[in-house]
Amino acid sequence: MYAENPRGFFITFEGLDGSGKSTQLRKLAERLEADNLPITVTRQPGGTRTGDRIRALLLDSRTENLAPKTELGLMFSDRAQAIAEVIEPALAGGRVVLCDRFTDSTEAYQGGGRELGSELVLRLHAAICGELQPDLTILLLPDFERSLARARRRNQRTASESADENRFEREAEPFYRRVWNAYRQIAAREPLRVVAIEGDAGIEEVHRRIVDVVRERLADHDTRSPRSSHA
Ligand code: TYD
Repeated sequence: MYAENPRGFFITFEGLDGSGKSTQLRKLAERLEADNLPITVTRQPGGTRTGDRIRALLLDSRTENLAPKTELGLMFSDRAQAIAEVIEPALAGGRVVLCDRFTDSTEAYQGGGRELGSELVLRLHAAICGELQPDLTILLLPDFERSLARARRRNQRTASESADENRFEREAEPFYRRVWNAYRQIAAREPLRVVAIEGDAGIEEVHRRIVDVVRERLADHDTRSPRSSHA
């Protein structure tokens, strides 16, 4: 299969709101671009026109009374669209896909935070996303209290702006504790796929660590597929 259609590489970024993952994703994207790798950057929820509408519904703090299973269904609806429109075509074209959040977020937030459990989330993943799994997941787990404080500051800052995306950031601390614990369980369950970066080493040091891991994994991937001969 690889010989005719060299498969790309799928990297996801995960962590609590305020973990600094979007900054790290951007820095990695810049680095890979400088290395002349073909990259596609996307995020969930969102990243397609349909997904952006689903995102608005999910994150607007004026959205009231959303049942946890409605939220779950919308996350997977968004994901199905992103896979069809963005992720699969990019991977099929041999690109490196960087995605800000993926199914681990659903397992952590809806499975853990909303207490729907991991099993339901994983069953839906299998039904909707099939075999698609990230080749590598960077999970940023800085100190819990610090990321919560950062998320709250951001919440206050954006409260007066028109794009109100704070529905999740208004959740109370026990919700975030459950999200945090679910992330740790995912990392313990899948230590090869998930590289957890704990603590607050600082933006540049965390970036260096991420670049090291990504380069190592990409080199591994290239020796297993003939993409290297096209690069
Ligand atoms: P976003 O603005 O992307 O947050 P951040 O910058 O912190 O990543 O908002 C995404 C929010 O949606 C975030 O609070 C987590 C939540 N979310 C879920 O609850 N389940 C999911 O499956 C996904 C993808 C996101």
